[in-house]
Amino acid sequence: METNQTSNRKKDHIELAFQSQTFGVDSRFYYEPFLIAHPNDTIIPTKDIASKTLNLPLWVSSMTGGTEMAGIINRNLAMACKEFGMGIGLGSCRIILDDSTYFDDFNIRPYLGNDQPLFANLGIAQIEELIEENKLNLLHDLIHKLDADGLIVHVNPLQEWLQPEGDFIHSAPIETIKRLLDKINYKLIIKEVGQGFGPKSFIELLQLPIEAIEFGAHGGTNFATLELLRQTEAIKEQLLPITKIGHTADEMVNFANDAFAFLGDKALCQNLIISGGIKDYLDGYYLIQKANVNAIYAQASAFLKYATGDYETLQSYCELQRKGLQTCYNYLTLR
Ligand SMILES: Cc1cc2nc3c(=O)[nH]c(=O)nc-3n(C[C@H](O)[C@H](O)[C@H](O)COP(=O)(O)O)c2cc1C
Repeated sequence: METNQTSNRKKDHIELAFQSQTFGVDSRFYYEPFLIAHPNDTIIPTKDIASKTLNLPLWVSSMTGGTEMAGIINRNLAMACKEFGMGIGLGSCRIILDDSTYFDDFNIRPYLGNDQPLFANLGIAQIEELIEENKLNLLHDLIHKLDADGLIVHVNPLQEWLQPEGDFIHSAPIETIKRLLDKINYKLIIKEVGQGFGPKSFIELLQLPIEAIEFGAHGGTNFATLELLRQTEAIKEQLLPITKIGHTADEMVNFANDAFAFLGDKALCQNLIISGGIKDYLDGYYLIQKANVNAIYAQASAFLKYATGDYETLQSYCELQRKGLQTCYNYLTLR
């Protein structure tokens, strides 16, 4: 049996050798194979966020609910977060703010368990409206009903602007966030949705008592582009250049590091969720190692790809992410 296996493996090696020629090298890392034995589970350090501990430094970025598939997707994602020790932000909860039709699609705490962070999600335009109309109690009640640890507010001016039915943002988001902070006793995370943001926004945000900043950087799923795809050809052609503006996650880590160095003790926010175009654990590992504060990385579309069917598909994806991260923590340092 053993001899057969070895013989087959050797045959594979000969047949596959020509297909496995590599071109190019990932020049972000030093690879040191001589200094440590094979990786194991304990090599990945735990990370704390929202007063909870993650076994993987990985977060499921907010994705929409309120469609037929959303319930299945959200439950799969919640089970994966529980099994692998990750955190999750729900997609926009606007649809369940004052109507419980789709509540079950979002109600994932029973699948997630109590040990993993769970955040509700709402756009800045809705926050503005709730404050103006004195209806923040709807939001507080929802967070309580979802048993969430807090709220993610997405700031998405380009998306709203390019969306035919988009909302108008009347005040500077930073002012609305400050007004919201005065009225809540749960944790707040602020994010973009695929454009990222620049250094001045970082300086302002980091001085607020928020739990984390999630990048939603340029380079992956981009909601400005997505909204544009829903428009006429003429509009598409003329507005497409707008979707190219923004900042990559790599660039944003530099902004964040500079902002922390500049602010010192004045930085009240101390956690980063690095998201937007994170293709794999190598990207994620590179960026969290590069950040000078507590940081985890997040993916949206990559999880979505594996979360629409049976749980085992998503489970295999997460298992390989963990394995990849073990390799990173064992053998790689940043150049
Ligand atoms: C299907 C889908 C739905 C999304 N819905 C929301 C949302 O409701 N609220 C939000 O803050 N971001 C939403 N996002 C944006 C993601 O959270 C994330 O910022 C963005 O997709 C970039 O990450 P990625 O490149 O890993 O996909 C959504 C993304 C996807 C793919």
